[in-house]
Amino acid sequence: MKIGIANDHTGIEMKQEITNYLESMGHEVVNYGTDEHQSTSYVIWGEKVANEVAAGNLDLGIAICGTGLGIGLVCNKVPGIRACICSEPYTARYSRLHNNCNMLTFGARVVGVEMAKMIVHEFVTTEFEGGRHAERVNQMMEVEKKHLK
Ligand code: RB5
Repeated sequence: MKIGIANDHTGIEMKQEITNYLESMGHEVVNYGTDEHQSTSYVIWGEKVANEVAAGNLDLGIAICGTGLGIGLVCNKVPGIRACICSEPYTARYSRLHNNCNMLTFGARVVGVEMAKMIVHEFVTTEFEGGRHAERVNQMMEVEKKHLK
């Protein structure tokens, strides 16, 4: 898969660890994050990767900030994005199975590297189940469309 990864200043080392992990699984990883330790807004980096996922240029996106929350909220502002803000693997797995999430976010200050790898593993190896969940996801996207008018 082609996977985009973005981060603010808190997530540089985590981004590198996750990039190496994804590449070791055979994925292509594109960097949309900062590589400078100077304090910066998570909004800039989250929007960059979310735009590419929404445009269909990436299969999945991952975004990292201190908590995973700020960058996750930004990603979810981009139409077409369903970003799971996650700190354990169970939710990451079900975000794909039931919610067809196309982005994962987590906090570099919340989870350690090994937990982050488990979260990422569940996210990228789980397929959407479809069926009744497809109806619910479509229903969710209708809410977005309604509010975009
Ligand atoms: C940066 O200090 C921090 O606010 C940011 O990384 C993120 O956690 C915001 O939600």
